[in-house]
Amino acid sequence: MNYPYVTEFRQALVEWFESEKRDLPWRHTKDPYKIWVSEVMLQQTRVDTVIPYYNRFMESFPTLELLAEAPQEYLLKHWEGLGYYSRARNLQAGVREVLENYGGIVPDNRHEISKLKGVGPYTAGAILSIAYDKPEHAVDGNVMRVLSRVLNIHEDIAVPKTKKIFEAAVEELIDPKHTSSFNQGLMELGALICTPTSPKCLLCPVRDYCTAYNEGEPEKLPVKSKKIKMKHLKYDVFVCEDTEGRILMEQRPEGGLLADMWQFPMVEQEVEDTFSTLETTYNVQVIKQQELLTFKHVFSHLTWHVNSYYIQSEPSLSGQWFTREQIEQLPMPVPMLKIWNSLK
Ligand code: ADE
Repeated sequence: MNYPYVTEFRQALVEWFESEKRDLPWRHTKDPYKIWVSEVMLQQTRVDTVIPYYNRFMESFPTLELLAEAPQEYLLKHWEGLGYYSRARNLQAGVREVLENYGGIVPDNRHEISKLKGVGPYTAGAILSIAYDKPEHAVDGNVMRVLSRVLNIHEDIAVPKTKKIFEAAVEELIDPKHTSSFNQGLMELGALICTPTSPKCLLCPVRDYCTAYNEGEPEKLPVKSKKIKMKHLKYDVFVCEDTEGRILMEQRPEGGLLADMWQFPMVEQEVEDTFSTLETTYNVQVIKQQELLTFKHVFSHLTWHVNSYYIQSEPSLSGQWFTREQIEQLPMPVPMLKIWNSLK
């Protein structure tokens, strides 16, 4: 790396972070378990969204042991609405490994910590640098944006192996005496100042050491090629309530999108007549039907176009039927919660 401002950059970044950092709940602890939880939640989810989830999670699962023992449904209920639910399952699996293989102590080195389920290079580096003060890189999309500008890196950040270039750069740049503030400073800079569009360069603490700023075009970086096209799927979703006030639910398969979460029966609209599919596949005898919400829900790579219906039906011996109170305890994906809340 041919960058002349290593010392100045470190000092400016760390000082800025320590005086300007936001007061966030996970910044009051060095407990590696709690840092781990926060970093997993913060992957793909905004800070403002994470805060109440993190606080509730820590009330229910203040220790590794309590998380390890939690029933999956109770765990997923705490994640409901955050998305990417496999994060929660992997976190629990990782925590169980720590109890089984490391005596309940989160490993303090990259080799061991990276073996834990769900702990990738970013999460490993974040835990090691924040909780254990180890000089390890923690590079995510925000950090790549900041460093692409500071170091004038033009490699395409949508290409997975580009991350290695940034990890190597952090290994050289990181302040070994302030690893936590250095890495969190990069994240904080990306969140508050060095934003994707209209970066606030005039407020930036490392502006003088930023190659892109000095050359005039920080907004042109990072280089990022377009990602693959969104898929669209159309579903009819049926809230079937029998004459005894019980509602039909099904659990999604163990793998794939929204694994193990609960939903009202849904039938892809490719099918000619989704109502007769409901009657045959789910063994529901329709008494009365009524339209509910029509909306779309965007996942990372997939959009659901949903029509929903309320169905009054005869009691049935097949399928899993729940009372309204029981349904409140089941983890459901956001599109199902939308429908459910429209009914309440
Ligand atoms: N994004 C990822 N990790 C973060 C952290 N520790 N603080 C704020 N935002 C983050």
